[in-house]
Order: sequence, then C-alpha cells, then structure tokens
Amino acid sequence: MSTQTPEIQTLGIIGGTGWLGGSIAKALLAKGVLAQGHLVISNRSCSHPLAREGVQMVTDNQALVDRSELIILAVRPEHFANLNINASGKTVISLMAGITAQAISKQTSAAAVIRAMPNAAVEIEQSFTPWFCFGEVDAATKSLVQRLFESVGTAAEVMEEDHIEVLSALSGTGPAFPALLLTALASQAMLAGIPADIAQLAAKNVVVHNSQLLASRDAQETLDSLIAYRGVTAAALQSLTAGPFEQQIGKALEEGAALARKGL
Ligand SMILES: NC(=O)c1ccc[n+]([C@@H]2O[C@H](COP(=O)([O-])OP(=O)(O)OC[C@H]3O[C@@H](n4cnc5c(N)ncnc54)[C@H](OP(=O)(O)O)[C@@H]3O)[C@@H](O)[C@H]2O)c1
Repeated sequence: MSTQTPEIQTLGIIGGTGWLGGSIAKALLAKGVLAQGHLVISNRSCSHPLAREGVQMVTDNQALVDRSELIILAVRPEHFANLNINASGKTVISLMAGITAQAISKQTSAAAVIRAMPNAAVEIEQSFTPWFCFGEVDAATKSLVQRLFESVGTAAEVMEEDHIEVLSALSGTGPAFPALLLTALASQAMLAGIPADIAQLAAKNVVVHNSQLLASRDAQETLDSLIAYRGVTAAALQSLTAGPFEQQIGKALEEGAALARKGL
C-alpha cells in the first residue's frame, strides 16, 4: 500500500489504556505516526502512565468522539452496549470481537465502520491485523488505517465481514495455538520420561525459536523437504498427520468463528 498517507489530526481510542488499545497508543507515539497532543484516550478511571506522555485522557467518551476525526473502539464487547456515543459523520474502527459493523453503525451513527482484528502480539508490535470496511471509506482513510495497524505489525484489508469472524478464531487468538502445542509437546515428553525442566526447554525451543526459521522459509516446502529426508522428523510428522489433525484445526476455527458470528 502507498506510504503517501495523510496526516491524521486527532485519533481517539475508547479503552485506550487496555491491552490492545494501550499497546496501539504507545506504538503510534513511539513511531511518530501521531504527535502526543493528537491522541485522546479514554477509560473509566482516567489514570494511566500515558497521561504523563502528553496524551489527552478523558472519561467522557462523547468528548473524545467530538475531539477526534477517527475513533478506535478498544473496549471489551460486553462494555459496548453502555458506551452511548454519537459518532455521526465520523469513521469508527472497532477492535471488538463478535459485534457486527451494522450493529456498531446503528448504535454510534458512524458514517463508516471498520472492523479490525489485531492480536496479543500488538504488545511486541508483531500482530497481524485484518480489517474490513463497512460503508464508504475513501482511499486516504484506508491508507491511514493500514498505517495505524502496521505500527503494531502487519495488516491487510479483507473484503468480507465474515472473514473477520473466521480470522478472530485464527490470528485473533494470538499465542493460544502455539501455547497449546508447547504444553502438549512438554507433557508428552514428560510422559516419555524426560525431566520436566528439559521437556519445557525442548518444547519451548521448538515452538518459540524454531518457528522463527519460518519467517524466511515457506512452511509447505519446509515440511516437504523434512519428509523427503526420511528421518526421525518424517516419522513423527507422518504419525501426527495420519490422524485427523487438519480436521481438528478446521473444527477449532469453525467453533471460534461460530461464537464470533453469534456475538459474545
Ligand atoms: N486481547 C486480545 O488478544 C484481543 C484480540 C482480538 C480482539 N480483541 C478485542 O479487543 C478489545 C479490547 O480487548 P483488550 O484485551 O485490550 O481489553 P482490556 O485490556 O480489558 O481493555 C479494555 C479497556 O477498556 C476500558 N473501558 C472499559 N469500559 C470503558 C468505558 N465505558 N469507557 C471507556 N473505557 C472503558 C478499560 O479501562 P477501565 O477499566 O479503566 O475503564 C480498559 O482500558 C475487545 O473488544 C476484544 O474483543 C482482543
């Protein structure tokens, strides 16, 4: 996407002190995407270290909306119903899982709604954030949204809202799948007689460190070459994939997406 993005005047983040909202706020300031005085954040307690960095802090969400050109909703889905904001004529970006763009548009009167689904790796600026536009969003705003989310990793526009529900159950889950693999490898190694500390070191090395090799290698080619080698790795992989491994993954995505579609 073009780097010729317009400068944003003021961005407001409702729930800007939370896990996602706070990480995005910090990254935007650190990377100079926004100047201090151009960021307004809200929460219910009105206290956060970001206030000492020149960020405007408010508890009045409508005041935040009135001061901002672009508004990010970073509250938990269960807190949305009580937000009571009028964002008429403005573009609202929602990070909330399980609340449709139409419901957000209806409740906030926003001119356009962008649904984005970052993940916990915003904290280390390595999230993948798919986003979907509902209503008229011009190219300049799209470019700005891409840049906002690139400040915490990578991002891409998707053309169907349902893809956000499926991706909620995939990239939205952040460290969940790797954590599951890590704990399964460690506990099975212990069952095979490996001491607990060694089992943890080995499993963590596979999931956290060896996965970094995939940053520059194609996953399918890596698997193909390991199977072609016909060694211990091939035997282990073939045993795992002989069972319903992919179907189980598919079922997990389906269950997660079904909950996202139903609403939280
Ligand atoms: N965490 C993830 O990995 C993840 C992944 C994908 C999507 N999401 C979505 O991202 C959203 C935020 O998640 P999170 O994990 O960042 O939640 P979080 O850490 O609980 O943050 C929520 C923030 O909202 C604030 N808040 C609550 N009610 C408010 C209100 N009425 N007005 C203003 N601020 C209010 C809270 O501060 P006070 O309590 O001080 O008010 C807090 O700073 C959720 O909707 C979730 O579905 C999260």
